[in-house]
Amino acid sequence: MEILSTSEPDLKKAAAALADGLLVAFPTETVYGLGADAFNTNALAKVFQAKNRPRFDPLIVHIADINALTRISDISSLNETARKWLELLTEQLWPGPLTLVLPKQKEVPDLATAGLATVAVRYPSHPAAQKLIRLLKGTLSTGAVAAPSANPFGFISPTRAEHVKRQLGEKVDYIVDGGKTQLGLESTVLDLSRKHPVILRLGATSREAIEALIGPVELSLEFSEKPDSPGQLKSHYAPSIPLVLYRQGELASVPEAADSTAGEGRLYFSSPPDIAAGDRMRDSDRTRVLSPGGDLTEAAANFFDKLHELDGMGLSLIRAEEAPDQGLGAAINDRLRRAAWKT
Ligand code: TXA
Ligand code: MG
Repeated sequence: MEILSTSEPDLKKAAAALADGLLVAFPTETVYGLGADAFNTNALAKVFQAKNRPRFDPLIVHIADINALTRISDISSLNETARKWLELLTEQLWPGPLTLVLPKQKEVPDLATAGLATVAVRYPSHPAAQKLIRLLKGTLSTGAVAAPSANPFGFISPTRAEHVKRQLGEKVDYIVDGGKTQLGLESTVLDLSRKHPVILRLGATSREAIEALIGPVELSLEFSEKPDSPGQLKSHYAPSIPLVLYRQGELASVPEAADSTAGEGRLYFSSPPDIAAGDRMRDSDRTRVLSPGGDLTEAAANFFDKLHELDGMGLSLIRAEEAPDQGLGAAINDRLRRAAWKT
């Protein structure tokens, strides 16, 4: 495995590797993706193998120009209303952290979509991700990059190149290091292939932002063993140690274990709201605070990052508190609940 920068020559090298059927982890504005040429079935198979991901869990196909959309998805089979939704959403929110589930073009390999009649498409806003995809397109007729988050299946998503290196190591051929990702939570997955739009995964685009454009959308986030979207598995996004979840504000009153060898870490959403700015709780020892001032965007950007830090300390337990249940807070809470499921 080799680490690359986001310089032009390095991205060319990364694109050539993708064209050769190798695996390239790369930064996006949400989390790092484990990329493969979306039309190379051997490369796709390697993605599943590297992540230990079940074959029933489809990948997101990443594009870097709007014209590529019709090569991946069969827009013509959408009804007029759905086409209007698609137009509004792509005009306003692409490129960005919104993944759309649409009817699939038959050329897209079944391995990418786990045999479904639909395909998830995303146009990331990260400049290096865009450049990489465009460079791949330069080498092939149909440049598109299939990429799940670059972590072993069920574990914490990577927000830094080091996370990918630690979690996947030699299973990846190259890692493009773009530093810490900006948004820190995965894209929101919205299904437009049904009668009504349905959010299958809460993420870095808020439900509110989507509803402002296309009106009310359903949420389908059932915690189940046989979900609509495999990201809905009830145990997911989990650290390697147990995580116990508290309502916002309740964790502060749980006494610290008297015995410091108990190895407990804490993940706070914010300082208690009544505390003066100067006295706010900050990261210390085995405590992490997602946003001392309670800002949801800042908290989302830090979420996986701080979870990775706590997970790497050799602790035996993490106690975490929920975020306010709105906007990006709903997406953070969804991940916390799945992380806590096993415990
Ligand atoms: O922000 C992101 O979306 C990141 C970056 C790398 O782009 N990618 C990512 O991919 O989070 P992944 O594979 O970890 O999550 C994709 C989610 C999964 O929950 C998967 O089940 C769902 O999208 N999905 C993909 N194709 C689908 C389809 N055709 N129908 C329903 N759900 C689908
Ligand atoms: Mg994932």
